[in-house]
Amino acid sequence: MADAAQSKPMDAHIHESGTRRDFLQIAATVVGGIGAAIAVWPLIDSMNAAKDTLAAGAPLDIDLSHLQPGQQIVVLWRSRPIFIVNRTPAELKTLQESQVTGLLRDSQSEANQQPDYAKNWHRSIKPEFAVLVGICTHLGCIPEFKPAPGGDLGAAWPGGYFCPCHGSRYDLAGRVFAGVPAPYNLPVPPYNFISDSVIRIGENPAGSAFNLNSIEQL
Ligand code: FES
Repeated sequence: MADAAQSKPMDAHIHESGTRRDFLQIAATVVGGIGAAIAVWPLIDSMNAAKDTLAAGAPLDIDLSHLQPGQQIVVLWRSRPIFIVNRTPAELKTLQESQVTGLLRDSQSEANQQPDYAKNWHRSIKPEFAVLVGICTHLGCIPEFKPAPGGDLGAAWPGGYFCPCHGSRYDLAGRVFAGVPAPYNLPVPPYNFISDSVIRIGENPAGSAFNLNSIEQL
């Protein structure tokens, strides 16, 4: 269930073309709250996400109306990076292609790594918006956003996330590939849409009691 309803403003960074140098800092509109904005990416870029107890944290409201198709923002919630992606129609099509799903360890999200409302082919509430905990399920590094197919990850690369620590790969729904060190899909945090374009991270839709602490592995 939700924490006390208090939102904190944040800056976010949009990843436009696949390398960290391409991050363009934007003033992502975060709804409500008072406080100093912080630059999220430099912080999470250097953090070594420890698997300790979740820090207490209030729900976080993020306005996605400025997030363009193909772009990602990264915000911090409970000291953890949350990847939010506006997936293009082509990227959504790729998620459903058998030549991609056949390469995944858990294409149907059978393992308990997401709430029931994200146990679907796109692992989200609205197909276009992915909301994922950005921590590799192997040893906790932060995977890199590599949305472009092919390139230095090989001709069969469909676009997704690459973890540079030991080479784990995930698709753009956070589903892990078979044959890599990471054992599970990226977690999906509790969240819901409080308007057409605003999500509240840390609060389930009405009727759900999903608890992130209950998943297989953070
Ligand atoms: S921590 Fe990601 S592959 Fe090892």
